[in-house]
Amino acid sequence: GKVRAPTHIISTISDDRGEEPCYAGVPMSSIIEKGFGVGDVISLLWFKRSLPRYCTQFIEICIMLCADHGPCVSGAHNTIVTARAGKDLVSSLVSGLLTIGPRFGGAIDDAARYFKDAHDRGLTPYEFVESMKKKGIRVPGIGHRIKNRDNKDKRVELLQKFARTHFPSVKYMEYAVQVETYTLTKANNLVLNVDGAIGSLFLDLLAGSGMFSKQEIDEIVEIGYLNGLFVLARSIGLIGHTFDQKRLKQPLYRHPWEDVLYTKLVLYGLLVRINFIKRE
Ligand code: ACO
Ligand code: LMR
Repeated sequence: GKVRAPTHIISTISDDRGEEPCYAGVPMSSIIEKGFGVGDVISLLWFKRSLPRYCTQFIEICIMLCADHGPCVSGAHNTIVTARAGKDLVSSLVSGLLTIGPRFGGAIDDAARYFKDAHDRGLTPYEFVESMKKKGIRVPGIGHRIKNRDNKDKRVELLQKFARTHFPSVKYMEYAVQVETYTLTKANNLVLNVDGAIGSLFLDLLAGSGMFSKQEIDEIVEIGYLNGLFVLARSIGLIGHTFDQKRLKQPLYRHPWEDVLYTKLVLYGLLVRINFIKRE
């Protein structure tokens, strides 16, 4: 009989061998004929299944909301500096992407992990937040540099509104909101941020859609799929910033001396202690 040689790669999400490419078994012609969008394509390639319309719409809303947040945030700043150093599109893009992490845009997976664990263990927001404090871990998904109680993040409100209207249950999001209510008693800027909103709401999407087993949800949370939403979304903005700088023929960037505190370490420690400067 035929002997199958062992392969070096196993792939389960797409197939390019036939007349047309297939995503999770769905031929490209069918994707186009059915009027699928980017949310459907993400469902097929990341989750290997077609998700209900409200889920794919939610994914698309996340992508649109996180596509850009102005030139001052870490990612855009890096991209702008790189583009102005004369580098190409891919270099400028990845330079910005490399800033995505636990403080900026890449807190979605950890927010989902911690909110899920705390909610499922029945911790009160007080118990959860205080236990994180004892461990010296900032609550992922909470806090913002420019948003606060009186200037809430519109993106978070839009996500919550959509989910309250379309999701069968928003129990994880409600838990995250309770956590926010508690953290806001500590400081004005400890709002539920866009990473925390997406992290908690994606848990609701996974649990409420009836499309994932408990084991699959645990795997998705453990592997960490959700930061991918921010990476994908922000790439749109970072590419835009690259084109913008090139179009404007911006010269090499050099940071102004006036904006640097040149000091000795001892003096820096003193200035931090008397609250003259904020430790970055
Ligand atoms: N949990 C608990 N306490 C916090 C948190 C938090 N998430 N964020 C800030 N604090 C408290 C801490 O007591 C902190 O003091 P410390 O420096 O001794 O730890 C104090 O507030 C002041 O913090 P700042 O550093 O001034 O806060 P900043 O405004 O610089 O930080 C940031 C904003 C980085 C978003 C922060 O809140 C944080 O680390 N959050 C968790 C990570 C996260 O969710 N990031 C995603 C942000 S949204 C996005 O990037 C798209
Ligand atoms: C973002 O979307 O980039 C932010 O929420 C971070 C910021 O500081 O604006």
